[in-house]
Amino acid sequence: MRNRINLIKLISILFVVIITAGGLWTYRHFRAANASLTTEQITALAKKTPLDGQQSWLRLARAVLAAESVQAIAAPVEPLNNRGEATRVELGYLLFYDPILSGDKTTSCASCHHPDYGMADGLKKGVGIAGRGYGAQRAGTGRELQRNTPSLFNVAYNPILFWDGRAGTLEEQALEPIFNQDELNQSSAAELIKRLRSIPKYREMFAKAFGFNSPQDGREITLQNIARAIAAFERKLNITETAYDHFVKGQDERLTTEQLRGMVVFFGQGQCAACHTPPHFHDGVLSSIGVPVSPEKGAPLDADPGFGAVIRRQDGFGMFKTPGLRNVAGTAPYMHNGAFKTLEEVVEFYNDGGGLGRGLDVYSQDVQVAKLDLTEQQKKDLVSFLKSLNDTAPLPIVPASVPSGLPVVGK
Ligand code: HEC
Ligand code: HEC
Repeated sequence: MRNRINLIKLISILFVVIITAGGLWTYRHFRAANASLTTEQITALAKKTPLDGQQSWLRLARAVLAAESVQAIAAPVEPLNNRGEATRVELGYLLFYDPILSGDKTTSCASCHHPDYGMADGLKKGVGIAGRGYGAQRAGTGRELQRNTPSLFNVAYNPILFWDGRAGTLEEQALEPIFNQDELNQSSAAELIKRLRSIPKYREMFAKAFGFNSPQDGREITLQNIARAIAAFERKLNITETAYDHFVKGQDERLTTEQLRGMVVFFGQGQCAACHTPPHFHDGVLSSIGVPVSPEKGAPLDADPGFGAVIRRQDGFGMFKTPGLRNVAGTAPYMHNGAFKTLEEVVEFYNDGGGLGRGLDVYSQDVQVAKLDLTEQQKKDLVSFLKSLNDTAPLPIVPASVPSGLPVVGK
């Protein structure tokens, strides 16, 4: 009897010891991973961490992702009436590269949104109709557009489109450049539809993509279906496999120590993630940051009213949508007006506190853009982190030919 009681005592004591030790171990593990720290605490710790302390920076970077509840990127949502069917994507792909869409048959969407230039053009501002060539080589007598050409990578994740947010869906957006006088300058819907109906390959492809046992007589070639096909193609242009993405999914070795330090700046002292929020690195809204006409300090404020002209109200003046940052290193120059040529110039601008910080009379600048007091090292680290968002997949393939028989991409 006594032996039994002793045994029970012993087991109880052992039990308590094991529980306590386990609890202690978990707690220390938790502490070591900095999992419970806030972003402010991490920023403070970062100041005391030696530059080359790779393991410490790894822990801080993991902790900041946990503190900000960062999620991995998921597949984009496709609208119910346009589910990304392969027949539509293939058709949209060819339309995108086919200059038949433009009034004078010289320009395609890819003249300005080309894989070689990160699905943009590498120019300060796009060169419109009557331009020649594509991307940064595009030149000639073409009209200069009002704004910088945005990349179409990850456009499927953008709830608002155009720098001033005037379009909501890709289907709604796709027809705009076709009939815009400065862009593809197509004369009329009737002319566009007539042209496409005269090409057997398009009759066949539209019937397959949109018809139901319908004859290949071109009846499916409508404005709405043209827009749907282009949008279905655009939704497949996604960058989801950057070094950053692999890191988020657990691969510690994908980021350099410099990038880990830059990540801590991006979420912490830099306040970048307040608007460039992962996983898409934008918040889906517009804000005013006071972009000037050029990078030098003292340069005047850009006069583009942005969202102000869309809502016809003063309080929208100078508001532009937050661009996503995946592949941003490949799409210079930057901002709605292409004012900044390098990421270093962009970081310098934010470090000064945006337009307001540079002494410009900015209407309702967002409070998240304020003087940052970053060291030269932190600025370099931040740029380095932005490069971890570079695309690592092969470039999208340009078709060898398009159904119109015209030169692919345009002249
Ligand atoms: C002459 C150059 C040019 C051509 C050609 C062109 N675009 Fe654009 N694209 C631009 C510019 C510049 C903007 C930004 C305009 C603005 O924000 O006001 C833009 C914006 C866009 C956007 C919005 C992206 C975003 O994230 O806000 C989409 C989508 C787009 N274009 C698709 C197309 C499609 C599809 C075609 C062909 C039918 C096309 N573009 C042809 C220059 C061009
Ligand atoms: C208040 C929200 C906000 C904050 C905070 C913010 N940004 Fe931005 N960012 C924007 C907006 C809006 C634009 C576009 C402005 C324009 O074109 O006039 C932009 C543009 C950019 C661009 C240009 C992208 C392109 O494709 O042209 C980069 C790069 C960038 N931001 C990086 C950063 C970094 C780095 C930080 C932190 C130091 C930061 N941003 C903080 C809202 C913000």
